[in-house]
Amino acid sequence: MTNDSIQNQVEALREQICYHERKYFIDDQPEISDREYDQLMKELERLEAAHPEFITLDSPTQRVGGETTLGTSVPHRGQMLSLDNTYSPEELYDFDQRVRKALPDQPIAYVTELKIDGLGVALLYEEGRLVRGATRGDGEYGEDVTANLRTLRAIPLRLTRIQLMPTVLEVRGEVFIPRDRLDEVNRQRIAEDQAPFANARNAAAGSVRLLDSSITASRPLDIFIYSLGYAEGIEIPRHTDALTLLADLGFKMNPHTEPHSSIEEVIAYCHRWTTDRETIPYDTDGIVVKVDSLQQQEILGTTAKSPRWAIACKFPAHQVKTQIEAIEVQVGRTGVLTPVAILSPVQLAGATITHATLHNEQELIRKDVHVGDTVFLERSGDVIPKITAVLTDQRKGTEKVFRLPDHCPVCETPVQRSEDQAAVRCVNVACSAQLKRRIEHFASRNALNIDGLGPAIVEQLVRVGLLGDVADLYALKQEDLTSLERMGEKSAENLINAIKGSRDIPVAKVLFGLGIPHVGANVAELLIDHFSSIDNLADATIEDIESIHGIGPQIAKSLLHFFSQPRVQEFLKRLKDAGLQWATESSEFTGTSDSIFVDKTFVLTGSLSTMTRSEASEKIKERGGKVSSSVSQKTDYLIAGESPGSKYDRAIQLDVPILTEQEFTQKLSS
Ligand code: IVH
Repeated sequence: MTNDSIQNQVEALREQICYHERKYFIDDQPEISDREYDQLMKELERLEAAHPEFITLDSPTQRVGGETTLGTSVPHRGQMLSLDNTYSPEELYDFDQRVRKALPDQPIAYVTELKIDGLGVALLYEEGRLVRGATRGDGEYGEDVTANLRTLRAIPLRLTRIQLMPTVLEVRGEVFIPRDRLDEVNRQRIAEDQAPFANARNAAAGSVRLLDSSITASRPLDIFIYSLGYAEGIEIPRHTDALTLLADLGFKMNPHTEPHSSIEEVIAYCHRWTTDRETIPYDTDGIVVKVDSLQQQEILGTTAKSPRWAIACKFPAHQVKTQIEAIEVQVGRTGVLTPVAILSPVQLAGATITHATLHNEQELIRKDVHVGDTVFLERSGDVIPKITAVLTDQRKGTEKVFRLPDHCPVCETPVQRSEDQAAVRCVNVACSAQLKRRIEHFASRNALNIDGLGPAIVEQLVRVGLLGDVADLYALKQEDLTSLERMGEKSAENLINAIKGSRDIPVAKVLFGLGIPHVGANVAELLIDHFSSIDNLADATIEDIESIHGIGPQIAKSLLHFFSQPRVQEFLKRLKDAGLQWATESSEFTGTSDSIFVDKTFVLTGSLSTMTRSEASEKIKERGGKVSSSVSQKTDYLIAGESPGSKYDRAIQLDVPILTEQEFTQKLSS
């Protein structure tokens, strides 16, 4: 066969595969069986392997394995705005009034769309080929996530040829994970001792912002395209025309978009979807209302953050009624007893709910919760549900008052109640429940980050007496581990290596890992920043500690109590002798006054690839900046690493500038 005819054959196969991918992943109307599809793919792979000179980036075989450019920030073709929120029909009437006032005597047509709860992205196509995919970022610049987005088969690598093909095209859409697939992902994460994603949005965001595109490829990600950002070479009068064009080009569009000629119709659509949203397999958090005419959109313009031609109408939180069958008591790391309601299993926003925390005894009294009560359960986006109300008028008289016990349910030591009665504590530091939680905390990601030491392993190690405290971890041998259930040679070796590796974890994380009451990750950083070592901190007076900005008397008292115990001193000595990081080199302020860091407040989220979060904090502080643990109006920058958490969403909500790791490291060296 000549080279030309091989190339033609390869190209014809690609066209065929693209067509069937579109039928399967976008139109949901497959025309061939999975087997037939696999055969086509195998044939293409075979030809490309024999003739690598014909491999092109838009070949369906080239979805996974592209080089990740995570950390690179790229400009959007036009700003990616966010939306103002409304919660009632009155507010929608107000919106309509504002629109009409700006466009007197003009007919107004609206479009309503489901607001998909995922991660906003922009896709750039040149000559019909996907060249870039980016997150929303700060709206002007996003993070380059091309390699990861390429793995989504609902994202076309090449567009369907149409007559008036835009030469350059940027489209915006929402990447999401269907609800039932999130449950699957979370089950697997729990089995692998990884923290489950709190909601579908975090799961989507975490999966798109990974360093390894093959992991993204394994996540059940999907996308709906919701608008045209930029198109070169074509004129479009209305948003609905843009949506038709996008569908023709082969993008996956949401089927529930509707045009309306009055705000009343819009309100009726919102009402309908407030309940109908349960019937679709992905999470939505509201409706987006848009003025259809692009010319009218132009006249209406935008405020600093959001367009005046669109608004989001947010859904109320999901609510269901269920019954409290029993109340169980859990013993936490610091001995605090937490009441947990065991519920009659109930479906709520697509998940089966069986437990809900009641937080503490005061909460129990405040809400007047009895065993047997009928309650309202609410879930607003997050996986963890809340009891929001007790239906006292539905009591039959058989319900029972519940109070926390006088003895620890695990070790039976008498409990102690705090002065304000909020906390009930098991004071036996040797209580096995506390010990297990302490070890889990010590091994957790923000502390010593010991991979593979999850609850199931900890449970066994404590049960067989191999772990009496976390210092015992450093004496464990591989043969100790292989005797445990479901622990092979390889996992045992990995765990031993992970424990060894934790000796390099910075001292602030070690301090956090000790699990001293009221000493969270950020407080631990502040303390180490000031005292440079755990030994200096242990020798400090209450005045020394309280003099640190951001540290109050409660923390100081807790630290003093912790370090004053002979048992703790002996335990800390064993940890230090095991070779854990115990001090930091004291850091002087080296920044110049015009550095971008001076007096600026930074928040870190996600993991960084070139340094740990404590190292990053240290570098910020060395340059005169501050590090805070939560995002607020006062935050100057969010530094987002891989798999950022809810802080990322909050920063987007508050329009806090987001720095990628690369931008951050550039600023460090400038
Ligand atoms: S339109 C200026 N349409 O919601 C128009 N956004 O809070 C802004 N979203 O960042 C976007 N579904 O990620 C639009 N049908 C939809 C949407 C949608 C989800 C997300 C999007 C945006 C955020 C706005």
